[in-house]
Amino acid sequence: MAPSARRRRVLSVASECAPLIKTGGLADVVGALPAALAELGWHSRVLIPAYPSVRARAGRSRRVWRTDDLFGGPAAVRSCSVGGLDLLLLDAPHLFDRPGGPYSVDGHDHPDNHVRFAALSWAAARIALDGLSDRWRPDLVHAHDWQAGLVPSYLNYAGSDMPTVMTIHNIAFQGIFGPDDLDRLRLPTWDHHPDALEYHGLVSALKAGMVHASRVTTVSRTYAEQLATAEFGFGLEGVVAARTARGEMTGIVNGIDTAVWGPSTDPHVVGYDADSPARKADNRSALLREFDLDDPDGPLAVVVTRLTHQKGVDLLLEALPHFIASGGAVAVLGSGEPDYEHWLRELSARFPRSVGVRIGYDEPLSHRMYAGADLVVVPSRFEPCGLTQLYGLRYGSLPLVSSTGGLRDTVADAVPAAMANSTATGFVFSDISARGLADAFDRATSLYADGEAWAQVRDRAMREHVDWAASARQYGDLFEELVR
Ligand code: ADP
Ligand code: GLC
Repeated sequence: MAPSARRRRVLSVASECAPLIKTGGLADVVGALPAALAELGWHSRVLIPAYPSVRARAGRSRRVWRTDDLFGGPAAVRSCSVGGLDLLLLDAPHLFDRPGGPYSVDGHDHPDNHVRFAALSWAAARIALDGLSDRWRPDLVHAHDWQAGLVPSYLNYAGSDMPTVMTIHNIAFQGIFGPDDLDRLRLPTWDHHPDALEYHGLVSALKAGMVHASRVTTVSRTYAEQLATAEFGFGLEGVVAARTARGEMTGIVNGIDTAVWGPSTDPHVVGYDADSPARKADNRSALLREFDLDDPDGPLAVVVTRLTHQKGVDLLLEALPHFIASGGAVAVLGSGEPDYEHWLRELSARFPRSVGVRIGYDEPLSHRMYAGADLVVVPSRFEPCGLTQLYGLRYGSLPLVSSTGGLRDTVADAVPAAMANSTATGFVFSDISARGLADAFDRATSLYADGEAWAQVRDRAMREHVDWAASARQYGDLFEELVR
C-alpha cells in the first residue's frame, strides 16, 4: 500500500466478538479478523450490541451516533478500543440491557430476538449510509450470520450501492419471524416473496442477507459445497446454488488468532512448542489432576463444545465406553442441552477415574485442556468450519474429527500414505456414527502405542499454518474486488 493511500474501511457487524462476548467460534472469528485485515490495509470497526457485560469491559467510550427511536426506544453507538480492536457498541437499553447471554436467559431465547438484531442491522445500515459523527464511513460492510442478515436488505431498500459481504457461520440458525412484523422492522411487505424475504410463509433474516448481499461467503470450502444440498442447506440450498452458479458464493476457511492460541505464549499453560514439545507432558499431568483422572495407558482425549445434536454428543456418549475399555481417558467441558449434560455426568459417575466432566463455560480451562490433551475429539454431524480442531493442531493435541465441512478441510487423516510422506495431522472418520467414531478411537489408540509415529504426526500438526494470514488475504481480495 502506498503511504499516501487512504486505508480502506470495513464495518463488521455481528452479535459476538472475542474477547468481549463469546458463545462460540463466531466471536473468535469476528475478534481476530480485524488484525489480520489491518496487515492488508483494511481498517475494521466492529459493531456489536452493548450487552451489560460488554459495557462493563469496554471502559471509556465516546458517542458517535444516536437516534430517538430504534424500534421502540432511543439508542446510541459508542466507540471504544479494547486490546487493539476498534469497537462500536450499540447502546439500546430497551433491547440489550438484560441479564443472561446474548440470545437467552436461563435457557430461554428472548422472544424479540428478531427485533433486537434487526435493530443492530438497521443501525449498521444507517452508519453505512450516513457515516458516524467522527466522519468515519465504511467502504464495505461485512455481515456475520443471521443477526446481521438484514444489513444488506436495509441498504438495498435504501437504494445504496455500498458493497456488502454476508458470511454464513452456521446455516442452521436463520433468524425466522412472522410477516406481520415486517412493517415494524421497516421492511417492505411487497418484497415478501420467495425471491427475497419469504421463507416458507415466514421471513428469514439470513436468507434476506444471502439474497441481497453483493457476495456470500461461508467458513470452509467443503461447507460451501454442502450448503447447496438439501441435506445441509436447511431449506436455503436453492439460494446457495443460485449464487454459486453466478460465481458469487465462496468458502474461506477460518484461521485462529495465534496471539491468543499458541502453546509457547499462552499464559494459561506450561509453555512448549514444536521444537521442544517435552513440557507438553506437564500440562497433561496437570489436566489429569484437575479432572481427578488416572494416568491412562492410551491417549487422553478432550472435548470442548456446545452440547448439541450438531456436535455429535450422542455419538460420543455411545462410543466412549469402548474407548475407555481400550485404555483411553477423556475430559469434557461443555454446556447445552440438559439431556446431554445429564448423560455425561452419568458416564463420569460410571467411570470416575477415566471420564471427567465439567458442565459450564470456562475459557481458561479450555486452554489448559487443549494443551494437556493427546486428542481433541470433534464428532460433529455438520461443521461449517470448527475451531477446536485448529486449536488441537496448534497445541499438538491431534484432532480426531468427522469428515464434514471445515473439519474435512483442515485435518489430514493418518492413513498409511499420509504417514509415509509425513502429511498426517490427525484422524478423520467418514462413517459419522458411534461405530465410525469408535473405529477412529481404535486407530488413534494403536498409533499412540507407537511413540515415534505419534510424535511424527504431532510435529506435523503443530507446524500447520492455522493462522489468519492466508484466509484474510482471500477476504481482502474479495473486498478489493467489490470496492474497485
Ligand atoms: P461453534 O462455534 O459451532 O460452537 P467452533 O469450534 O467454531 O464451534 O468454536 C467453538 C469455540 O467456543 C471455541 O473457541 C471453543 O474453545 C469454545 N467453547 C465451546 N464450548 C466451550 C466451553 N464450555 N467453555 C469454554 N470454551 C468453549
Ligand atoms: C459457527 C460454526 C463453526 C464455525 C464458527 C466460526 O459457530 O458452527 O463451525 O467454526 O461458526 O465460523
